[in-house]
Amino acid sequence: MKRTIRSSVWSLLLCACSFPAYTYATSHVRRNDATFANTLVTSAPGKPTAHPSPPTIQDPASLVNLFIGVINGGHVFPGPTLPHGMAKPGMDTDSPGNHAGYDGDARFNVTGFSQLHDDGTGGAVPLSNFKLFPLISCPTGDTFVECQTTLEKRRVLRKVLSDGSPDDFASPGYFSTNLTNGIRVELTATRRTALHRYTFPAGVVNPRLIIDFTNDGSRSATSPEGIIDSKTGRVMASARFEASFGPGRYTAFTCVDFKGDGFTLGPPTEHGMWLENFPVKNSVNVHQLYQSFANQIGALLTFAPRKQGPTTILARVGVSFISAEQACSNAEEEIPKFDFDGVQKTARAAWNDILSRIQVKTENVDPETTKLFYSSLYRTHISPADYTGENPKWNSTEPYYDSLYCNWDTYRTLYPLMSLHDPENFARIVRGMINIQQHEGWLPECRGATAQHYIQGGSNADPILAEFFVKFHQQAKALHVDANALYNALVTDAEKQPPNFNLMGRQANILNKIGYIPSDVWDPAGTNTKQVSRTLEHAFGDFAISQVAKILGKKQDVAKFAKRSENFHNVWNPNVTAPGRPDISGFFQPRFLNGTFNFTDPRHCSVHAPDTATCFLDPENTDGFYESSPFVYSQYVPHDTAALIKLQGGTEKFIDRLNFIMDEDFFDSTDEPSQQIPYMFHYANRPGLSIQRSRQVIAQFYNTSINGLPGNDDSGAMGSYVAFYLAGLYPLPATSQILLGSPYFPEISFKNPVLGTTTTIRSKNFKGNPTNGTGGNVFVKSVTIDGKPWKSNCFLEWEAFQKGSTIELELTDDINVTCGRGAGALPASLSTGGFD
Ligand SMILES: *[C@@H]1O[C@H](CO)[C@@H](O)[C@H](O)[C@H]1NC(C)=O
Ligand SMILES: *[C@@H]1O[C@H](CO)[C@@H](O)[C@H](O)[C@H]1NC(C)=O
Ligand SMILES: *[C@@H]1O[C@H](CO)[C@@H](O)[C@H](O)[C@H]1NC(C)=O
Ligand SMILES: *[C@@H]1O[C@H](CO)[C@@H](O)[C@H](O)[C@H]1NC(C)=O
Ligand SMILES: *[C@@H]1O[C@H](CO)[C@@H](O)[C@H](O)[C@H]1NC(C)=O
Ligand SMILES: *[C@@H]1O[C@H](CO)[C@@H](O)[C@H](O)[C@H]1NC(C)=O
Ligand SMILES: *[C@@H]1O[C@H](CO)[C@@H](O)[C@H](O)[C@H]1NC(C)=O
Ligand SMILES: *[C@@H]1O[C@H](CO)[C@@H](O)[C@H](O)[C@H]1NC(C)=O
Ligand SMILES: *[C@@H]1O[C@H](CO)[C@@H](O)[C@H](O)[C@H]1NC(C)=O
Repeated sequence: MKRTIRSSVWSLLLCACSFPAYTYATSHVRRNDATFANTLVTSAPGKPTAHPSPPTIQDPASLVNLFIGVINGGHVFPGPTLPHGMAKPGMDTDSPGNHAGYDGDARFNVTGFSQLHDDGTGGAVPLSNFKLFPLISCPTGDTFVECQTTLEKRRVLRKVLSDGSPDDFASPGYFSTNLTNGIRVELTATRRTALHRYTFPAGVVNPRLIIDFTNDGSRSATSPEGIIDSKTGRVMASARFEASFGPGRYTAFTCVDFKGDGFTLGPPTEHGMWLENFPVKNSVNVHQLYQSFANQIGALLTFAPRKQGPTTILARVGVSFISAEQACSNAEEEIPKFDFDGVQKTARAAWNDILSRIQVKTENVDPETTKLFYSSLYRTHISPADYTGENPKWNSTEPYYDSLYCNWDTYRTLYPLMSLHDPENFARIVRGMINIQQHEGWLPECRGATAQHYIQGGSNADPILAEFFVKFHQQAKALHVDANALYNALVTDAEKQPPNFNLMGRQANILNKIGYIPSDVWDPAGTNTKQVSRTLEHAFGDFAISQVAKILGKKQDVAKFAKRSENFHNVWNPNVTAPGRPDISGFFQPRFLNGTFNFTDPRHCSVHAPDTATCFLDPENTDGFYESSPFVYSQYVPHDTAALIKLQGGTEKFIDRLNFIMDEDFFDSTDEPSQQIPYMFHYANRPGLSIQRSRQVIAQFYNTSINGLPGNDDSGAMGSYVAFYLAGLYPLPATSQILLGSPYFPEISFKNPVLGTTTTIRSKNFKGNPTNGTGGNVFVKSVTIDGKPWKSNCFLEWEAFQKGSTIELELTDDINVTCGRGAGALPASLSTGGFD
């Protein structure tokens, strides 16, 4: 997503925030050297399962390239984290595209190493809080009070390698860089704690470290607080910051401790707080500075260097959203011994546990394709982040996940991929969402730094919860997901209008009354925008709810929500045609309360928009669509493509339109509503066209270079999408169907630790992948499951993954293959009796 927002919206929606006071405990560091169990966010490894063949890739972490999408707006986070970890320490730069801190362009300066980040988001720069920064020396005889502490003065370039790239390295759980001032920085992390390692070159006289309290990336800090313990060097700090994509603010806390690596680090030889470029020697708290709104404030410490050789200082940085004391206790508990290599090893092992659940065979496969696959799978597990124990808003024993940024981006592919190999984390995230509903009244849609963010498309926690329940209702109890609470959360979302539908829930009152969101009704509960795309999203949400109701045996609700899922018909205007193509007729369009339609040019919100279009959250969005064109949204009825084919004039016209959308670049590789379009030929019984189109999309837009992402990663939405395409699959969330293409690997298997099963998809006559995605022996002629012919070449059922199957594909170079013979060969649509 592009996620831009005009400042007028900010001021319109900005809340009146209060700034609660709090106090610090100034106790010394309690070093807890007792036995320590490293807390992993991943739960215990799965039950042993019968694996058909031994894993071929033992260390998939070695295949992950963390630098894909770190320039040109990918906003990918390349720093260390545990799978779904909260602490995400990383390099921050002065790049305008530093939403994840980093930029792969060596011309940008390093401004610090902060503790929390998001991956691939838009909005304002999120979570670059509490930067640490090493100073090699200070002006005029290296004096403390002359140290240059602001972002602008302290920043420094990285070393550059002979190929022009920065001297940076990253692998799962680890990051390192060499700065031009000779200092080396390395980072690793546990769930809530970052561990930094600063190596100052031999000969450094005054190794110094800045701890920055205010520069969060958006310059939004207010109420900075901080205290230095001059005896131990411990720094505790906090400030209030602006949410990235919402009206709220949040408070974050940190606790930093230091230790010599291989030598005894004494107490700081100098210490003090700084304001802008003025360190105040021996000051120990920010109240000793003259401060006003938005100034740069922090602490500065000098240490005695090691007697010989380089001086390596470890900085352990606890973070918390509850209190500075809790940031300290998190750090003491998770990293008691400052064991950098041990922490790094544990993180890598956690990544290998998750990544190795999907195994591929690589004969005749370009090694870059395998790297692209595991790198994309890796990014599926950066967000949401496990903030359990860090929710400042209420106490609960349920898990709490944040960085849901946003469900609209991730519901399509990220959660369905988790269904295949990581239901434990999926279950915890679902529990967290249900718990939010129980306390806030509605399911979260978009969330960051514990604050509600603006909704984008709809209330897309609905298909996420339904995806979990359709696939794991038999395991729900064992996974501690309460079916009644889940269903209640869904129904509340659909039926009850919230006080502010910009932040959660739906504009339910009028939607449920007239069956669409009209263009000309100004509801005080939210902004009058994106009425058409919200109508479409809610139709799919209602379908998702009907699937859950079916499993729970709630017959009346099944009928009610299935009926509502047909609301897309209410915004279809058959008379609008594509400019220059009168044969392409019928588009979703904005509709007034009185039943007549307004007109939005179908090219709006695409690269071909003929005039100014309003496609974002703006109150003046009169187009009625969010981020994508009417061309794209007019393909957007995932649960009833058969009805769409009818509306569009039959199979041939449907295929023509899909080809037009792809050939004329109405397909938008940067935006989620387009993600299913290349696969939609399946519904027209032309799976060969889907396979070719999806492969052309990969060839054109996705690769392992730093610009190998066409737009924001969107919290792993793009990563999981690419992983599915490479696996030769495309999911239909909240259903048991998965569309089948052909994998880029002769064999791919999915180990599901909760079900205790492994499912393998093997292509019997695999001959490799065409490099440009065109042609090749990649089309599916026939499918068997456990040796028996399967009814369709176009989809698989969840049952195959549930019981653990061997699925064999026979490939051909004939693009004219079909889904197969018989009524059951086409993938399901609601209006033709599917999903029963
Ligand atoms: C990097 O920092 C230097 C020194 O402050 C500055 O002159 C230069 O413009 C910065 N580079 C960028 C890309 O901002
Ligand atoms: C940085 O320099 C060290 C040697 O001082 C070297 O081992 C390392 O590979 C360099 N690059 C990175 C990214 O750490
Ligand atoms: C959570 O519990 C702690 C300990 O009882 C209490 O101090 C805190 O105020 C509670 N937080 C909320 C948001 O209720
Ligand atoms: C109808 O559409 C036009 C063109 O987008 C727009 O200017 C106008 O405000 C719309 N009317 C309403 C009531 O939304
Ligand atoms: C579309 O055009 C037909 C024929 O002119 C007309 O009967 C129908 O009401 C129009 N529909 C809409 C939604 O404008
Ligand atoms: C329907 O409502 C729109 C916008 O409010 C108005 O422009 C139009 O004239 C109305 N049409 C009829 C037939 O009432
Ligand atoms: C990678 O993909 C991008 C588009 O997303 C493209 O601009 C770039 O040329 C590609 N690089 C390689 C090496 O294929
Ligand atoms: C793709 O590559 C094949 C084989 O090299 C070639 O025949 C074909 O023309 C190419 N197609 C496109 C669209 O570049
Ligand atoms: C597929 O069908 C098209 C159109 O009917 C035809 O031109 C083409 O030769 C066919 N391809 C193969 C491999 O049979």
